[in-house]
Amino acid sequence: MNKFFATLAQERHSVRAYKPIPVEDEKMTYIMECVRLSPSAVNRQPWKFYLLSSPQARTGIQRCYDRPWFQQAPVYVLCCADHEASWHRPCDGKDHADIDVAIATEHLCLAAAECGLGTCWVCNFDAALCRELFRLPASLEPVAIVPVGYPAEETPKPRQRKTLDEIMERL
Ligand SMILES: Cc1cc2nc3c(=O)[nH]c(=O)nc-3n(C[C@H](O)[C@H](O)[C@H](O)COP(=O)(O)O)c2cc1C
Repeated sequence: MNKFFATLAQERHSVRAYKPIPVEDEKMTYIMECVRLSPSAVNRQPWKFYLLSSPQARTGIQRCYDRPWFQQAPVYVLCCADHEASWHRPCDGKDHADIDVAIATEHLCLAAAECGLGTCWVCNFDAALCRELFRLPASLEPVAIVPVGYPAEETPKPRQRKTLDEIMERL
């Protein structure tokens, strides 16, 4: 069996140290094309992605998540959910925007890993400040920030994960 996906899933890990070199535009375009192809509930594609690489934008996003390692990234993707465009399940009104954006965001991280780039999901940021600094429309919720850059660290330690027996049950 071709283990391509397992290899990529192993390759992707949270990178918290970046080299001070830019990411090629072609690579960002390839990554965002992989994001664009993500599935979403009822194909609503309720998302918007801001690529932040200008000095002003970088300074702004760094204020939203004030960590030394985070500042090293040459580019950030601000992943937003559009709650007006998303599918709400009729039987109970459940909003699927977060799920859709999460899938697209992981496409981003996996595609970046394929390109030899590091990423890290960041959700522990100041969302209110982010809305204000980037003047997000009311329907857009900033869900995650993903720094993207060339890793400046050694290969990752083995994944610490629950076993299959712990997370899976055959019925
Ligand atoms: C939804 C989500 C939110 C996360 N938020 C943060 C964060 O704010 N800061 C951070 O350093 N890592 C964050 N992470 C990274 C996790 O800590 C990391 O994925 C987890 O420890 C597993 O490690 P790995 O990504 O290297 O496999 C987040 C991950 C996910 C999926």
